[in-house]
Amino acid sequence: MKKQLLIMDMDPGVDDALALLLALRSPEIQLLGITTTAGNAPVEMTSLNAMRVLEYLNASDIPVMQGAQKPLKHRLVDALHYHGPDGLGESELPPAISPVQAIQPWDFIAHAAASNPDKITLVATGPLTNIALTLQHHPEVAHHLAGLILMGGAYGLTPYSKGNQTPYAEFNMWQDPEAAHMVFASGMNIHAIGLDISLDPTTCLYEQQLQQLQQKSAPAAAQLASKLVDYAIKHHGRCEMHDPLALAAALENMEIFGFTPKQVKITRGNGAKRGVTYALIQKKTPSLHPIYIANKVNGSRFLELFLTRITGK
Ligand code: BDR
Ligand code: CA
Repeated sequence: MKKQLLIMDMDPGVDDALALLLALRSPEIQLLGITTTAGNAPVEMTSLNAMRVLEYLNASDIPVMQGAQKPLKHRLVDALHYHGPDGLGESELPPAISPVQAIQPWDFIAHAAASNPDKITLVATGPLTNIALTLQHHPEVAHHLAGLILMGGAYGLTPYSKGNQTPYAEFNMWQDPEAAHMVFASGMNIHAIGLDISLDPTTCLYEQQLQQLQQKSAPAAAQLASKLVDYAIKHHGRCEMHDPLALAAALENMEIFGFTPKQVKITRGNGAKRGVTYALIQKKTPSLHPIYIANKVNGSRFLELFLTRITGK
């Protein structure tokens, strides 16, 4: 089977770690590398967390490149209060022993994309700082990648589209709106999974799914996933699957999502509307490329995909 080539840019993070587990358990994917960014936690911690998950699943041959320390124009406001003091829901994974690679994420992404034109999909599940820096350093990358799938934004396309950082802004977009603006303007082929989809209760995990993950003789991935999900349910009443949904969109499971093309604008700066994403109804700026925004999801198909991949059943 010809594998789909992926690079993940992430800020683990409970749900980023669940997305990584899903990628590692998906045979059709070849994960070329992970680039880390500051977001849910400082970047040193998100790098260590990515490596802790890789080492736990004997996948430490996948390189981890440490990226941006902070958003382009703002200070970092982490989400450790949400993801736990270790960023991984107190999952008690051993500390990482592998070092991060001595290459910058933007150089890694650009080199990989140039060597495999139109073959690599980038999945970004944190603030878009590294992706913006990649476009700054290597503008040609926008045309070398097969596409970018990002988790971020709230586009008013379903009844669940509310902010989770401010009343209207989603965390990743709010954290680095200047980076998101550059990415939206890049002309890249972009698919976005926003809170419209990931706050839909049919895409979340509850006690019933946790029990499926906790079954006896579950594989290592399910054991770790159950700790992460358990933490989320105990602290937040359910486990929202923002980042695994973005990874699922990379798996070409067309029955799971519906997308609509829209031009998107984002509010930059530090005002009350910081990070708010607007899906424009009419094409207002002819040069702004539309991006494909998820507006429909089959929640039970998504949960089935996640649980069967993670448990192997
Ligand atoms: C996004 O914010 C982060 O806390 C999650 O990891 C996810 O990427 C959801 O708004
Ligand atoms: Ca994330």
